[in-house]
Amino acid sequence: MPNIVVVGAQWGDEGKGKIIDILAKDAGVVARYQGGHNAGHTVVVNDEEYILHLIPSGIIHPGKICMIGNGVVIDPEALIGEIEGLKSRGIAIDNNLFISKNSHLIMPYHSIIDKESERSKSIGTTGRGIGPAYVDKVARTGIRMSDLLDSHLFREKLELNLSNMNYLLYNVYKSEQLDLEEIYSKYMGYAQKIGKYITDVSILINKYIEENMNILFEGAQGTLLDVDHGTYPYVTSSNAIAGGACTGLGIGPTKIDGVLGVSKAYTTRVGSGPFPTELKDKLGNDLRSKGREYGATTGRPRRCGWLDVVVVRYSVIINGMSGIALTKLDILDEYPKIKICVGYKYKGNIYNEMPHESSVLWNCEPVYEEIEGWQESTVGIKRFDSLPKKAKVYIRRVEDLVGVKIDIISTSQRRDDTIIKRNPFRDY
Ligand code: IMO
Ligand code: MG
Repeated sequence: MPNIVVVGAQWGDEGKGKIIDILAKDAGVVARYQGGHNAGHTVVVNDEEYILHLIPSGIIHPGKICMIGNGVVIDPEALIGEIEGLKSRGIAIDNNLFISKNSHLIMPYHSIIDKESERSKSIGTTGRGIGPAYVDKVARTGIRMSDLLDSHLFREKLELNLSNMNYLLYNVYKSEQLDLEEIYSKYMGYAQKIGKYITDVSILINKYIEENMNILFEGAQGTLLDVDHGTYPYVTSSNAIAGGACTGLGIGPTKIDGVLGVSKAYTTRVGSGPFPTELKDKLGNDLRSKGREYGATTGRPRRCGWLDVVVVRYSVIINGMSGIALTKLDILDEYPKIKICVGYKYKGNIYNEMPHESSVLWNCEPVYEEIEGWQESTVGIKRFDSLPKKAKVYIRRVEDLVGVKIDIISTSQRRDDTIIKRNPFRDY
């Protein structure tokens, strides 16, 4: 039985939520391995919209086992809000959500530091405290989920952290200091509510793997936001790539059978950082309004541009992708000409592989290939054969350029409006 990673092939917001929701039907377990509530995964079922930030998108399927791995950083308040929101919509959680003991807590000082440090860094973070929580994890001063279950230990760790953090808040950021008792009692209250979900996720997931259950590893963000392989420093603070599934859940690489990359038929990015195919003109605005490109987490307008296959090809390599899900094809329906970026031009040189020098990425000119648009609606098409001829030409050209097959094509936000040529769980 296969275990499949679903990973973003661009800068996040590729439509991973919808693809995970579709594949979750055939999975026994859906597990998140990194990031935090910076993610925003939108799933539309029977015209009902669900936006998930922390809990795997598989939760919408009744009874599906959902796990949050050690690689995720968790703001308990956000988690509780999400649990309660789902419960109020009739979604069962209590017997099927498991949270790793080793996942790290986002503390109130993390989001303050995140916002304060933005003034000098200007990364355009979500301001949710994600980066500073990972800083503490790597500095070995972080507070983990398991600490929440031991009130004495939690208090001890909080005291130690808070004395340093209050110094930083007061002296460096000229910000108000935080009160120990207030945080302590708040977090003990959280422990009461989420204690029952906390467990050894690594042991549990490996048990399910042994039992031959289908496992779906849910990536958040995207390859170009990966802390090691993305457009550093304009990245998030975790390993969003497929390899992150191993460290972020405690499973061996031999347990992964396939990697499905999710890419939009065009490109978007939120926050700062280089974006070679960005369209700052009317066309970019048009893509934004047609594609409703506003952040699911912060509501920020997303920057929009043509599909960049230099980026997607790079993602195919870094993740060892075995297939691609192409989303939002329908947003390109009306354009008479569609552009695909096949390389970058900078100071007389052509780059066909992703350059890492920020000078190149910021200043290069995209080299475009122009394809004829199909100018017909593809909304709701469910079979590849039913697509307009020119849309098929476009898809086949993208396949050739990125070097991997497009297995799934999304033709609207709705669950059913999807062409599935190859389901990684069924056609393994
Ligand atoms: P999903 O899972 C899009 C971006 C932020 C910022 C940078 C760092 O919905 O695809 P952070 O708060 O993580 O320290 O911000 O990363 N970013 C995302 N952009 N989708 C996401 O997640 C993102 N998560 C973080 O905008 O540029
Ligand atoms: Mg997002």
